[in-house]
Amino acid sequence: MDAFTYRSGEAFCEGIPLEELAKNYGTPLYVYSGAALDARCEALKAAFSGHPTLPCYAVKANTNLSILKRIAAHGFGADVVSVGELEKALLAGVPADRIVYSGVGKLRSEIERALDVGILSFNVESVGELTLIAEVAQKKQKRAPVTLRINPNVDAKTNPYIATGLYSTKFGIAENEMTWFLEIASNNRWLDLVGLSCHIGSQITDVKPFREVAERMATLSREIQAKGFELRLLDLGGGLGIRYQNESPPDFAEYARTLIPAAEAAGVRLLIEPGRSLVGNVGVLLSRVLYVKRTPAKTFVIVDAAMNDLLRPSIYRSYHEIRAVRDGGTSRIENVDVVGPICETGDFLGLDRTLPELKPGDYVFVEGAGAYGFAMASNYNTRPRASEVMVDGSEARVVRRRETLEQLLAPELVD
Ligand SMILES: Cc1ncc(COP(=O)(O)O)c(C=O)c1O
Repeated sequence: MDAFTYRSGEAFCEGIPLEELAKNYGTPLYVYSGAALDARCEALKAAFSGHPTLPCYAVKANTNLSILKRIAAHGFGADVVSVGELEKALLAGVPADRIVYSGVGKLRSEIERALDVGILSFNVESVGELTLIAEVAQKKQKRAPVTLRINPNVDAKTNPYIATGLYSTKFGIAENEMTWFLEIASNNRWLDLVGLSCHIGSQITDVKPFREVAERMATLSREIQAKGFELRLLDLGGGLGIRYQNESPPDFAEYARTLIPAAEAAGVRLLIEPGRSLVGNVGVLLSRVLYVKRTPAKTFVIVDAAMNDLLRPSIYRSYHEIRAVRDGGTSRIENVDVVGPICETGDFLGLDRTLPELKPGDYVFVEGAGAYGFAMASNYNTRPRASEVMVDGSEARVVRRRETLEQLLAPELVD
């Protein structure tokens, strides 16, 4: 479904004009479509209905509590990478036994809390971590469920900053080190090896790396089962890409057809950790034009959203479609850079874009901002973070209040 559409030249989210949202709630403003989010969740579930599968939403993609609650209500689990994300997932109603804990730098206190609440598994990345988990588990006299996160050394053919499945990255365990990990697990009764996991990167638009990894993980699972370990799950991570510009990523059905055979071959439950593919295209970032600056070299449309609100264009050079909220079709078309107010040349939302001629007070929106948008926002340049609203039909509600200067300054008012 396309939740963001034009009607008579005016952009809407479901039943509400974006301009109305901008005027009511101010800008910069993240706008999410509830119906689009529900549709993505249900489409994913339907695609994987042929095999027992637990989708664990990768909370990092968008940590808003209302988004989490909504995803939890579809029966999803969660993939978390910090105790903060763990608490948010629990608060949103995700049962602890549907939560997996990923990440290369888990703290002792985080491991303790996760063990206390009874998560489904720790996705283990190093010997140091496995040893620490065993120590904490023994202290608490409670077995710790673990999966070994394998680094399959597969090139996901994505931006190097979000590729995680190569030996040159900090992630996972190389296959030739597995015997070492298996020995530790089999000699320690406080460790319960429940399966294998992997995650090879994000924004993957080709099915081949998924297939390659799924097959390899199935083979590895069978080898480990042959050694007497009773594996119960295979976690194949997240990473499915979305369309930002002209990509054509696999749809959920093709993705499921690629992954399910691996779990079937291993005779275990399948876990996946989708983030971007669920929330990426259910949100936009709405912004107001402050100035139009015409220089001999270029025209800059200076808007009130910046790299602190949406970091992806600046750090990954990623492309997000930018559209005028009123796209009347009558005005002149201009080639412009859409930039924010931050004092960095790297502060842009889009370069060399063709947009209708804009003037101060007009609104634009940045598409595909539902994933790694607000979640990566900062206070750089002492800018309070944006507000977020959720639209359902013709109703909108604030799901995160705009940060105030007072809130921003409070932690520093120490004397
Ligand atoms: C371990 C793990 N699982 C899942 C994800 C979610 O990836 P995506 O949002 O691309 O689906 C990530 C993101 O980097 C991750 O690190």
